[in-house]
Amino acid sequence: MQSLCEFSDDTKEVLLELEKTRKDFWNVDRATANFLNMLIKIHNSKNVLEIGTSNGYSGIWLADALKHTGGKLTTIEFWDKRRSVAQENFKKCGLDGIIDARLGSALLILDEMRGEIEQGIRDSFDFIFIDANKPEYVEYFHKIDPLLKSGGIIAADNTISHAKKVEPYLKELLEHPSYQNQMLNFEAGLFLSFKI
Ligand SMILES: C[S@@+](CC[C@H](N)C(=O)[O-])C[C@H]1O[C@@H](n2cnc3c(N)ncnc32)[C@H](O)[C@@H]1O
Repeated sequence: MQSLCEFSDDTKEVLLELEKTRKDFWNVDRATANFLNMLIKIHNSKNVLEIGTSNGYSGIWLADALKHTGGKLTTIEFWDKRRSVAQENFKKCGLDGIIDARLGSALLILDEMRGEIEQGIRDSFDFIFIDANKPEYVEYFHKIDPLLKSGGIIAADNTISHAKKVEPYLKELLEHPSYQNQMLNFEAGLFLSFKI
């Protein structure tokens, strides 16, 4: 079990509170969250995208790592109530300044982001965490591949727990010449892809 000793008291309190309701909000488990936090620090990621904010549990782990790298998080959620709860949680943790919590359908927002990157308003991403609608993973991939730098990482959750639903995503990545992949045996399965 991972301790939360690296966090501020406020952040620790919020994380412990959110862990009590994690099944209601479909949050990642603590081991997956801790791994993503470490990976961002190891990779020195600066510009992170999350698809599927929920109440902000995983976003807090991602953004706290970005405090160390000097980066920022953009996270997408289409359920406004959840987005509002996440924003309150980010604020309680003092992370709201480095998080852009976007409201809307991921597929539409990813198209907007592509336009922003092409116009030079936004940088491309170096780390992307996918944790939203499982059958849509492959469509997210088609839209995020042009937004991800070479040397970037995609981590996709629920790739063992929802193996059937994410099968087209796994197949596409495993056959893709520009990606090196590894399935990691966390609670729900985390599929890691490195863009060569
Ligand atoms: C598994 S939960 C995310 C959990 C979160 N990453 C965490 O671990 O704390 C998935 C979230 O994605 C949202 N979602 C699902 N499909 C979406 C879509 N197409 N666009 C935006 N949000 C979506 C759901 O409303 C839900 O809150």
